[in-house]
Amino acid sequence: MRSVTKLHTEWIFHDHFSPSHIQQLQAGTSVRLPHNAVDLELNYFDERSYQKPFAYQRVLRWDSAWADREVSLEFDAAMANTEVWVNGQPVAHHLDGYTPFSARLTGLLQEGDNLITVKVDGSENPNIPPFGGQIDYLTYAGIYRDVWLKVCDPVSIARIKVETADELASHKRVTVRGWLHNPTGQAVDGTARVRLCKLDGHVLYQTEVAVQGEQFSAPLNQLAGLELWDLDSPTLYQVQVELHCSSGEQQQYKHHDQLSTRFGFRTARFTTEGFFLNGKLLKIRGLNRHQSFPYVGYAMGQRAQARDADILKHELHCNLARTSHYPQSSYFLDRCDEIGLLVFEEIPGWQHIGNLAWQDESVRNVRRMIERDWNHPSIVIWGVRINESQDNHDFYTRTNALARELDSTRQTGGVRYLENSELLEDVYTVNDFCHAATPEWMRGIAPTPLREPRQVTGLAHDVPYLVTEFNGHMFPTKRIDPEERQIEHVKRHLDVLNKAYGNPGIAGAIGWCMYDYNTHKDFGAGDRICHHGVMDILREPKFAAFAYSSQCEPSEQVVLQPVTYWARGEKDRCEVLPLWVLTNCDYVELKVGDFEPKRAYPDRDLYPHLPHAPVVFDGRHINMNDLGAWGMLWRDGVVTGYVNGQAVQQVRLSGSPVPTTLQVQADDVQLRADEKDATRIVLRALDQEHRLMPFLDDVVHLSVSGPAKVLGPELLPIKGGMTGFWLETTGETGPISVRIRTRRLGEQVLHLQAL
Ligand code: GAL
Repeated sequence: MRSVTKLHTEWIFHDHFSPSHIQQLQAGTSVRLPHNAVDLELNYFDERSYQKPFAYQRVLRWDSAWADREVSLEFDAAMANTEVWVNGQPVAHHLDGYTPFSARLTGLLQEGDNLITVKVDGSENPNIPPFGGQIDYLTYAGIYRDVWLKVCDPVSIARIKVETADELASHKRVTVRGWLHNPTGQAVDGTARVRLCKLDGHVLYQTEVAVQGEQFSAPLNQLAGLELWDLDSPTLYQVQVELHCSSGEQQQYKHHDQLSTRFGFRTARFTTEGFFLNGKLLKIRGLNRHQSFPYVGYAMGQRAQARDADILKHELHCNLARTSHYPQSSYFLDRCDEIGLLVFEEIPGWQHIGNLAWQDESVRNVRRMIERDWNHPSIVIWGVRINESQDNHDFYTRTNALARELDSTRQTGGVRYLENSELLEDVYTVNDFCHAATPEWMRGIAPTPLREPRQVTGLAHDVPYLVTEFNGHMFPTKRIDPEERQIEHVKRHLDVLNKAYGNPGIAGAIGWCMYDYNTHKDFGAGDRICHHGVMDILREPKFAAFAYSSQCEPSEQVVLQPVTYWARGEKDRCEVLPLWVLTNCDYVELKVGDFEPKRAYPDRDLYPHLPHAPVVFDGRHINMNDLGAWGMLWRDGVVTGYVNGQAVQQVRLSGSPVPTTLQVQADDVQLRADEKDATRIVLRALDQEHRLMPFLDDVVHLSVSGPAKVLGPELLPIKGGMTGFWLETTGETGPISVRIRTRRLGEQVLHLQAL
């Protein structure tokens, strides 16, 4: 049987690489994985600081249990161009920064200490995707994902693939395919026992097949009583494969292994009539996500990666995430499986296509992505183009062919912004940034939030069609921007979603993007941030976030969000109206001061197709005298949302806000001590009605005691009424307290535990 151990402690890090690192352990900084080679400031940094080689070293003490067995290091990923040596011997060279690779140590280990040396080169090497041109995101260097020590028999299971069939029938089928890892090429004879289990291990079905070559295939038929994986009930099952085989002339060598994977039963199909999940039409409402975090870049472990999936599903109420523009953390994908969030996953790249060797590497990325992720039910489409690249017939014929050969159960897409692009994929997936584009850019096309599919494809017939990005750089908006800009930001997201909902030929639309992200100097607001998110970099919502969340049903969550700072003079001409309320309520009432409440309904004239149109209060509902004008008294407002005639939520807007509460909100208070575990802590300056105070100037001093540390500085400005940080465990168990001091909102202590 295999043993797989996380190897995240006792690494020595060097902020440079020298050939002497290959031969000799040298003094450096002791670090744990995942590790970011160079932490950055939140903004205004020099991204070249990490674009160079680094070294990691670790001593691996010989264990007699390893004798006659296969021993390897399994890297979930490292950025980038990673070379591994053991005791001075080269054992692995992996170019890509987003996919896993293995370093085989068998035969090179000695009794006593063994030196592992890893060189990661953060340079933007033009021979490796995504590099060669400019890219609008950062590729933070380091061993930023987990590394595992794997010990198994000379013949073991390399990977398994679960293919489901008849998913919608009462009796379903499964074929479990397995590939052996047999580096010494032994002639094997044996069996694979395949069990279909519940996640708790309870065995539901099983079968056994003979294993003779490098592969096996085990069908399980007539499977009754199994549930579908769906958005509301994402039922997962587990397949466990147990390998028993022997080799040698007298079959004297015995090999045993066990490997399991989770999977689900579902169908997912993009058609000319839209997208169908389990045979039911589902309009895709999604957001693009990068896998980065402030200060530490990509080097965030399970909890923080998974949390983003929860935010997308439970706060933003999206049904799909696109992993722009690379295979993302398995922890994120696992969480998407668990909570029912669809995924569009794609290979690394951004606009630039390199030479043939570069393309070969990209084709290898297709294989690595699909072989790593084919059992995730959440993934419904493979992106097999370099994001927004030009057409390239030969290259994309190869990527599509390989994706189809490896996984015939999913369709391919490939994100372009081009009109009349050659459709080699199953779905025409396109970034449509035409909303509010200049007439010149639109070449005489009438202003529209989205173009018609045929106009984009240039085809005389319909094809499956999905909008993969919109807005973004066309209307960057900061969370601290004036109310009027934020209203426009909201509208643009609603306009596109409305258009997508109204066109049955569009499977859905995926906005750019979930949250603001650090980027190169060539992009963004000059501060190394693209302020393109519907949330800021801390995942705090801008008003546009509620354009998405308000589309869910009130039974899931009542959303009532007035898009306003509620002040007499924040908007031009001191106009308070129109007042936009993002909501899924049946109607909303606004009461200001002593006047009778005014009622308004979702604005179906503006947004006929959205599941929940916003309520817009304007001269139709409110007499300007009710609100008064410049120089007149400014008063409190009360916004009340009604569902089925009942008042279900109320937002009170103070006409005289003063700082009243420092809200301290930790995503989690129990953290793991045995790994780098980080949780987000958000601090909000609230007025007496619990609304953010957008223009409050104050600073927060943090001090931590116990086994944890703040990622980033301990002195933080409150911006747009809030600030936040991630707190990471340092390795020991025990109580953690975070003292939070402000000048105007006093001091608080937050208690957490590292277990
Ligand atoms: C797209 C690109 C994204 C991002 C976005 C900003 O062209 O695919 O990665 O740069 O623009 O709006």
